[in-house]
Amino acid sequence: MDRSEQGNAFPEDHEPELKLPHLLFTENVRPLYAKIVNEWDFLKKSACQTAAGRALWKHVIHDPLAHVLAGETYLRNLHDKIMKDRHNNAREISGVILAVRTLWFDSKIEAVIDSLGGAAQVVLLGAGMDSRAYRLSCLKESDVFEVDFPEVLQVKAALLEEALDSTEHLRLMAKSLKRVSADIRENDWLEKLQISGFVPEKNTVWVLEGIIYYLSNSQAMQVLRIVGEKCTLAHTVLLADFMNKASTTLSSSTYHFYSDWPDHLLPSIGFSHVKLSQIGDPDAHFGLMHDPLNLFNKLRNLPRSVETHPDDGTPCCRLYLVQASGSPNQTVSMKAPSQCSI
Ligand SMILES: C[S@@+](CC[C@H](N)C(=O)[O-])C[C@H]1O[C@@H](n2cnc3c(N)ncnc32)[C@H](O)[C@@H]1O
Repeated sequence: MDRSEQGNAFPEDHEPELKLPHLLFTENVRPLYAKIVNEWDFLKKSACQTAAGRALWKHVIHDPLAHVLAGETYLRNLHDKIMKDRHNNAREISGVILAVRTLWFDSKIEAVIDSLGGAAQVVLLGAGMDSRAYRLSCLKESDVFEVDFPEVLQVKAALLEEALDSTEHLRLMAKSLKRVSADIRENDWLEKLQISGFVPEKNTVWVLEGIIYYLSNSQAMQVLRIVGEKCTLAHTVLLADFMNKASTTLSSSTYHFYSDWPDHLLPSIGFSHVKLSQIGDPDAHFGLMHDPLNLFNKLRNLPRSVETHPDDGTPCCRLYLVQASGSPNQTVSMKAPSQCSI
């Protein structure tokens, strides 16, 4: 087996030249990208970086809107990194974490909506350039709410209008979609969500993908508590990715909130069931993690309490994929132990 077969399942014949759709260069779309590159801060730009990941891992993720939502700059950046990784025969190809994370959230959203009978509300906090409302048919009975900064949602709406105008088969899959301009560090985001039609007493799936570690500890806890409180009103499911402490040190100016034990933290704020996965686990694998020696498989095989790799002394940087749920009829079955990191 060569590295490409054992590693991240990135196809050998991956196009060396990046093919960019014509739409990215039209006169209505170009100024929107100029705004992103020249006016947005790193936090908002991260929305385009994640879309670029979905666009370039298209052999496993079906997201026909990802190219236009990412834009040329972020597509080129990631494409260059992937080419370099391929050239260096790297075990982990850039974007693989994003690909697994997207597929994990897709699969959980689908399973949860199905288990709730199809009609749950779906709230995406820090929705960025997520296009699930247009690509997941499981949302056909769901009211979807996308929360993000107004600048992000405005540019996204304009890009989507151009994309939908120029492509026949793309359409909204969700029952409805509301874009809610709000900063989730502020106190008014829930009120804004409710004004947009969110009903706290309805079953809800909360999607916090690639967002909470950008918040401070107190801001993140405030958001998680607000979501956790909803467990007393309706069936509530939280899907979120958490960094452990070591991961936040990868960029201490960017990442703030962490939890080494989200499976202990979440029951203390209202959730009765928590399931934690790591990249490479059976439900977070998606055929992309065959190499037993890749970083993620090595990490999974170490107890979570181990903070540095025994092989080389490097910090164990982990990304936890967490599904937590609660409902008015259920009692909290786990207690928060003392080793909770926050
Ligand atoms: C890494 S992107 C993830 C986007 C999307 N969830 C995805 O996975 O594609 C982070 C997103 O969170 C948004 N964001 C960050 N802080 C926020 C805040 N305080 N309030 C609202 N949105 C925020 C950013 O604008 C950006 O769109």
